Amino acid sequence: MKISKVVFPVGGLGKRFFPITRAIPKEMLGIMDKPLIHYAFEEAMAAGIEKFIFVTRHGKDSIEDYFDYMFAHSEYFDIKIGSVCYVRQNEPLGLGHAVLCAKNLIGNEPFAVMSADDFILHSKSCLSEMIKCYDGSNMVATVSVAPQDVDKYGILDVDREMNKLLVAKSVDEKPSIKDAKSTYAIVGRYLLSHEIFCILENLKPGTGGEIQLTDALLRMIPSHGLVGFKFEGKRFDCGSKEGLLSAILNVANQDKTLHHIIKNFYEEQR
Ligand code: UTP
Repeated sequence: MKISKVVFPVGGLGKRFFPITRAIPKEMLGIMDKPLIHYAFEEAMAAGIEKFIFVTRHGKDSIEDYFDYMFAHSEYFDIKIGSVCYVRQNEPLGLGHAVLCAKNLIGNEPFAVMSADDFILHSKSCLSEMIKCYDGSNMVATVSVAPQDVDKYGILDVDREMNKLLVAKSVDEKPSIKDAKSTYAIVGRYLLSHEIFCILENLKPGTGGEIQLTDALLRMIPSHGLVGFKFEGKRFDCGSKEGLLSAILNVANQDKTLHHIIKNFYEEQR
């Protein structure tokens, strides 16, 4: 099934990165010479996406400035004029609310959502692999996390497993370890039916007082199903200091010109 539009929600506060995110959007934090949002955009392009919608907010102008340069230089991103739009989220009311802000730009077709702070290191585009398996059910990228981390994620209650796909019978936002039905966590890649907008419009704030995308996914299970996609490659939660540092080390380690810096650092610590 074709997916031609992606939503990049970039309206979050990035509190875990205060104070730097008081002035620099989390999505503009760098892994070497490129910001996180650049890698997400590359992944979307590799998946054949044709329309790119950023849900942005006060203080996030540097994302637009960055892409103005990138789109003016086709060696970075060779895209058609008019294929990028920016829509504002007036208040950071949650990921579900950010997605809802893109409603009028999506229309009646399935679409993708990508959180740039979930950085996935792999030779293939995770989004592209998901689109190949997409059959109209709501689909989320899934990774098994450590039991002590389940309370940071939407966690799937898995009904059955079919190769890379986990068919879910329920999903819980940030459950406690004792309540979690599995360790399969949702990470920031989604393929969604446009009908999610009707649900989001009527959703009350959930965990953390935010409009949660997970709550909308739960409500849609009877009509649209929910499938977790076990992607290949390494994923880093670059919304956290541990994740960003780990991503930088992994990328640098793959670069022949930088590898020796990491090696020397560890030798000096011995
Ligand atoms: P997070 O859950 O990581 O929230 O958002 P956050 O505010 O960015 O970061 P912390 O937890 O305060 O450190 C996941 C994705 O959803 C976007 C974020 O920009 C990120 O891409 N988001 C979140 C919005 O666009 N708007 C919101 O109101 C909340």
